[in-house]
Amino acid sequence: MTRILFVCLGNICRSPMAEYLCRHLAAERGLTQIEIASAGTSGWHNGEDMHHGTRTVLQRLGIAADGFASSQVQAADLARYKHIIAMDDDNLAALARLFGGSHAQVYKITDLIPELGYDHVPDPWYSGDFDETRRILSAGCTALLERLSAAGGGT
Ligand code: 4NP
Repeated sequence: MTRILFVCLGNICRSPMAEYLCRHLAAERGLTQIEIASAGTSGWHNGEDMHHGTRTVLQRLGIAADGFASSQVQAADLARYKHIIAMDDDNLAALARLFGGSHAQVYKITDLIPELGYDHVPDPWYSGDFDETRRILSAGCTALLERLSAAGGGT
């Protein structure tokens, strides 16, 4: 089982979209040995459902957006998840503080898709542009799953 954790600040906009999108794309590809979750660095929205903008994007794609509850990333997640994938440099800095330094398994999703020209996923909490979030995360999740498939699901 390869465990993947998507991380953003609030765990209500970007990382929940990545979680549900990636789970959907993995199922489409028949990748069953992947477990996907998301968390926020802040804990500000613990227990809350995802943002309606994220829900709307997922529903438009035919992805059921049920059963979500926001949570905060934990120090123990470093041992649990093989890939801990952040949305921006602030997330990376918060994770480095939590995990006591930088680790190769912790990186930004935009690192997987340099051709898109983004060095972070802009926060739709501020921009309101959830469709931009969807475009970047779709490309990033597709690149991630291609990488995992090429590695036989093991990387
Ligand atoms: P997210 O967006 O990190 O993509 O979930 C945000 C959600 C909430 C807040 C900031 C960003 N907030 O300030 O409460």
